[in-house]
Amino acid sequence: MKRVITYGTFDLLHYGHIRLLKRAKELGDYLIVGVTADDFDKNRGKINVHQSLMERIEAVKSTGVADEIIIEEYEGQKIDDIRRYGIDIFTVGSDWEGKFDYLREYCEVKYLERTEGVSSSDIRTENRKIKIGFIGESEVVVKYARECEYVNGLEVAGTYTQNEKLEVNNRFLSFDDLLDNVEAIYLVSEPSKHYEQISKALFKGKHVLCEAPIALSVDEFNKLYQLAEENNCVLMDSIKTAYSTAFSRLLLLAKSGKIGKVISVDATATSLRDIEIEDIGQTWNSINAWGPTVLLPVFQLLGVNYNRKLIMSKMIDEEKSFDGFTKIDFVYDDAVAGVKVGKSVKSEGELIISGTNGYIYVPAPWWKTDYFEIRYENPTDNKRYFYQLDGEGIRYELVAFAKAIETRKSSDYIRIKDSKAICQVIEDYYNRKDFVELK
Ligand code: CTP
Repeated sequence: MKRVITYGTFDLLHYGHIRLLKRAKELGDYLIVGVTADDFDKNRGKINVHQSLMERIEAVKSTGVADEIIIEEYEGQKIDDIRRYGIDIFTVGSDWEGKFDYLREYCEVKYLERTEGVSSSDIRTENRKIKIGFIGESEVVVKYARECEYVNGLEVAGTYTQNEKLEVNNRFLSFDDLLDNVEAIYLVSEPSKHYEQISKALFKGKHVLCEAPIALSVDEFNKLYQLAEENNCVLMDSIKTAYSTAFSRLLLLAKSGKIGKVISVDATATSLRDIEIEDIGQTWNSINAWGPTVLLPVFQLLGVNYNRKLIMSKMIDEEKSFDGFTKIDFVYDDAVAGVKVGKSVKSEGELIISGTNGYIYVPAPWWKTDYFEIRYENPTDNKRYFYQLDGEGIRYELVAFAKAIETRKSSDYIRIKDSKAICQVIEDYYNRKDFVELK
């Protein structure tokens, strides 16, 4: 019996795929189809696959051509599969011509002519693009706009900024003007402006991705979410770390008991900047700039129901609105957490999750990492984990935003209760609740 294998993403299954599968089957007696896992696709740069792995498998199954369907999950798996399944012929479309010649050592390799005029990418693009506008004064605007180029479903409409130095394409003269020309916005304006700007956008039925914190109080946060719901709009927190593969994997590993029971979460994030006193109103203070990022692993691992907290800040301005440094301690029933943020204090930007059997160590800068370690008492048991991180996680975040708009379902990378708990901490900071000011 001649065994044939082929691989593909098979997103939005089309005529080209079906023709390829049929011809692959005709090459032998038994056809195995490898469908790529979502993470594997992400690493190959295919980050805007529309259907989930299960949906794509179901679609391939429904053709009735495959005798067996497997999942392709890692680099180098093809050789393993060819050996394991006793494969005689490996085949793919001619768009891969030459790329798999290295497999000739293990089996016959055949490239089948690709069907002209149809591809998943084309279908995805035809599906229409969401016009997105960018609002804010920092370089982050440029970064996000640039990352959109890698996301098929989004099209940059332009920017509304007061910052003359930002190199952006189309500049809108007013916020309203921008809103009238887009379907969605990304907002990185100063946090005190968020409430007004987000309300305005939601009233006009625009979807919002907002650099966290979304609001400076829970009351405002609730009102904005209600408004989003009434207008059938997506309102999403932007914390790029939440979308990095390494970060989501380490959360899963910690939750699955790899280090025993989690007892302490400690996260630090600082970026030393020269802060001009006259610019203080326009500059993100430490708690706003870094608070949401460091609070994320705390709330995602220990939950939002802490018993006590203490916020300790060192203010650098007369009005006492700008914390150059803040440390927050949390006490839970059975665990503790500590976070440190700073824009006028420097520290090691690491994340440590301590458990009863070992700990997870993420080196600085942990918020844009592709790597972490699980360490045990016996160092020979230590394990290192590496993942791909493209565009600091921004790219994946934009994909999640585009998907959320399409499905009108908020992504579960950052749960609403985590966003709300973040706003609560920031509200308490401004209200000086559970607060100590350092002299
Ligand atoms: N294929 C084909 N003819 C097409 C499209 C795809 O023969 N018009 C083949 C590919 O060569 C590959 C398999 O179908 O062997 C799965 O391809 P996949 O990459 O999943 O589909 P594409 O439509 O090429 O997807 P994309 O546009 O995202 O690259």
